[in-house]
This record gives sequence, C-alpha cells and structure tokens, in this order.
Amino acid sequence: MKKILVTGGAGYIGSHTVVELTEAGYEPIIVDNFSNSEERALEGIASILGHEVTCYRTDCNDAAALTDVFEKEQGIAGVIHFAAYKAVGESVAEPIKYYHNNIGSLTTLLQVMEKFQVNKLVFSSSCTVYGIPDQLPVTELTPVQKANSPYGNTKKICEEILTDLAVSGSDMRSIALRYFNPIGAHPSAKIGELPLGVPNNLVPFITQTAAGIRQELTIFGDDYDTPDGTCIRDYVHVVDLAKAHVVAVDRLISGKADNIEFFNVGTGTGNTVLEAVQAFERATGEKLNYKIGPRRPGDVPKIYADVTKATEVLGFKTTSTLEEAMQSAWDWQMHLQQTSSKA
Ligand code: UD1
Repeated sequence: MKKILVTGGAGYIGSHTVVELTEAGYEPIIVDNFSNSEERALEGIASILGHEVTCYRTDCNDAAALTDVFEKEQGIAGVIHFAAYKAVGESVAEPIKYYHNNIGSLTTLLQVMEKFQVNKLVFSSSCTVYGIPDQLPVTELTPVQKANSPYGNTKKICEEILTDLAVSGSDMRSIALRYFNPIGAHPSAKIGELPLGVPNNLVPFITQTAAGIRQELTIFGDDYDTPDGTCIRDYVHVVDLAKAHVVAVDRLISGKADNIEFFNVGTGTGNTVLEAVQAFERATGEKLNYKIGPRRPGDVPKIYADVTKATEVLGFKTTSTLEEAMQSAWDWQMHLQQTSSKA
C-alpha cells in the first residue's frame, strides 16, 4: 500500500480525503498541529474505517519535527498539503500570521520532501486566485488576479512557488487543486466541518442557525447583478472534493503529470446564496431564520467553475446535488448536537 502523507489531515477537507484515500487503497499518514482541528476528527475517521490512521501532532513549519516523520515513515510516495489557515477576515487583521504559516509550511515541507526524495505533491489552492473574474465560468486559463486578502495572496504565492520549482529543473511534480466552495459532510455524519467560534462560511452558519445556536443568518447583500441579487458560488460536496485528491494522487503516481498542473474543483454550476438557503430548507424541512444585510467587504459577486479539465484529465466527476450536500451538513450538525449533549 502506498503511503500518502496528509498535512492538515484532521481538518475539514483533510479528514474526508483521508477516508477516501484509504478506501481507494492508499495508506494515509496524518500530520496535523491541531491548531484548527480536533482529535475527534481522528475518532470519526477510525469509526468510518474500522481502524485508526497514523497521526503525528506536528507543525509543518517545524522542519526538525517534519524530518522525524519522514524518517519514521520510510517510503512516502506523495504528499497532500492541506495544512493552512483559511479565514479571510482574520488574514486581513493578522497578515504575518498567514504569510508565516501558509507560505512557511509549504517551503519547509518542500525542503524536507526534497531531502527524502519525495517528489509528488497535491496542493490545496482556491478559486480565490481568480479574484473577480471577467468571464464565467472560470477555466484554468482565466487570468489569476491580485488577491483581495492576505489569505488569498498566500494561495497565489504558494502556486507561484510551485511554478518556480517546476521551471527550476527540480523533479517535483505538483498538482494544485483550486477549490470552489466545499460544503457538506461524510454520509456517515462521523466527520464534518468543525468551525471554531462563530462560523465565517455560509453553510456552517446555516446549520448552526437552524439548530438554534445562532439567532439568524445574515445574507450579505441582495443588490448584486445576479438573478435574485445575492452572490453566486459553486458549492461542491466535500466528499466529491476529497475524491478529486485521490485521482490527483493517482495521476502523480502514474507518472503522467507535468511538472505543475492546475485544476478547478467545483460542480460547474453557480448558485445564489438564496438558492443555497432554499436548497437547505427543501432538503431538511427546516425553516431558516434569515435577513438581508449589507454586502460583506471583499466578496466576489459571482464565481463558478468550468470543470472540463478536471473531468477530462483526472476523470473527476461530482455525484452529489446541492440538496444532498445540505442534508449531509445538517446530519453532521445533528450529530454534533447529540454528541455534545452527551458530553
Ligand atoms: C471564502 C474565500 C475563499 C476561501 C474560503 C475559505 C474569497 C472571495 N473567498 O469563500 O477563497 O477558500 O472563504 O473559508 O475570499 N454568506 C452570507 N452570510 C454568511 C456567510 C456567507 O451571506 O453568514 C455568503 C457570502 O457573502 C458568499 C457566500 O455566502 O456570497 C459564501 O461565503 P463563504 O462560505 O464565506 O465563502 P466564500 O466567501 O465564497
């Protein structure tokens, strides 16, 4: 079984990817510093798989600790690098924290990978690199724009680092997956998103509102140039997104990948915020308390993916509808309520 190191493997997308990798016949090894994740993600993974997954409590910025992991786990075939901070607003307030963590962890990881001659990497990028696109849907050839937050800039810079490495003559092969908006949870409801404090993202805010933890959802603006005036996003089920990582790893291992490749990972469909709310209500039968508020500074009015390249080159396809994704997010929220009330 090929070992795949998964940094941030206890996080939201990481934990789902660990499950999918295992089910595809890989042996994931988790590295996580638990700064924005919880041990219970490991319990959830173990409960789904029927066995534990090796996990190192290690910070990717710590070269010595990371070296230890590579020494202990001989024969790592590739790495998926999720470990990063991801809160847009926080990155504006604390830019150095973001540059240090997100860029430092990548360069440290690359140095350690080089030392151990591990030369296959899947990198977590984001549609944020497209800024406010001139044309929709966005393809991988849509120009990358100036980032509108330090968080977005770290993704752009990390892509540039991997591109520079690719042209340097290094034998590193990298695939950067540009995620659109991941939502939902594993169908078992044993793993899902665990936002710390008040959620920034739409779907955890919706589920917490429906569960009575938040009083109401504020929809940020209804005066955009869209059919109902609310922003458009491409909401992709996290399990479909996790599977994109497995096919990216397959491609790297098969030796077919170029030095660096970029893929959009979304559904190819844009939905407004109001449509997302209605999909939640339809799927769950819950009535959501919401109001319209002012625009959120920095929001992109509309963005959704052209996924032709991922479909044709990786064989990626989505299988879940927006309703199914919303239902799974709700099942996960219910699981959290039940387990926290037992605690
Ligand atoms: C943002 C980033 C994205 C990043 C992601 C990680 C930008 C443009 N996008 O995605 O790159 O990967 O965060 O967290 O920087 N909304 C509400 N009310 C809420 C919350 C959200 O109306 O309480 C709306 C937003 O205005 C937006 C949509 O819901 O239209 C999705 O928002 P969110 O889930 O925060 O994701 P993005 O902003 O798209």
